Amino acid sequence: MNQDFHLYLDSADLAELKTCLPHPVVHGVTTNPTLLRRAGIGRNDLPGLLKRCIDLGARQVQAQVYSSEVDGMLEDARALLSHFEPGQLVVKIPATRQGLDAGARLIAQGVPVTWTAVYAPEQAHFAAQLGAAYAAPYLGRLEDAGIDGLALIAQMQGLISQRPSSCTRLLVASIRSREAYLSLLELGVGAITIPPRLFAELLDHPATLDAERGFLADAHALP
Ligand code: G3P
Repeated sequence: MNQDFHLYLDSADLAELKTCLPHPVVHGVTTNPTLLRRAGIGRNDLPGLLKRCIDLGARQVQAQVYSSEVDGMLEDARALLSHFEPGQLVVKIPATRQGLDAGARLIAQGVPVTWTAVYAPEQAHFAAQLGAAYAAPYLGRLEDAGIDGLALIAQMQGLISQRPSSCTRLLVASIRSREAYLSLLELGVGAITIPPRLFAELLDHPATLDAERGFLADAHALP
């Protein structure tokens, strides 16, 4: 069964990440080639960026392979892993036929793996069967496609929870709102990765800040 919850930040933009890190509620940082492109980060810049995130308190960081064939995926993974201590880097691999093969080989070597772009319950089940650290469905993109994303993710969660010895967490990505985040918590998913822009909305409740302002004013007025 999944125990502790992992909150990730989904970004390759260091300035944006620094608005959230360091903070103890954050487990780590997830990236993918689209986020790298958006942030203007090249392949050679990625290890440095992720090491900076570890310096800023991230306990794990995730980087995706660039190839679609098994050998290329393993080569990409080896190159990425060479920059990190064991367990720090989680290798992300699309949950294709080739991706499942490459990821299983990495898991056999003790490397934590996220299978990503998980769109169907059986893919989440394969991830758990093969010992993935994470299986990543995309809630927002499922909803964009007219699918009831929460219902599908609940089905995935049900399947991986059936395996009591499994350490696999669903790592739900493509989160666009606080409401989506809360709904996923209610489903009991083991991990969520959010865009940094949502972090303030989750952490800085206006009523809490208002109450604190009142307490501070009263504290100053105390004799
Ligand atoms: O990790 C996947 C995430 O970056 C996709 O988010 O909102 O572009 O679908 P979005």
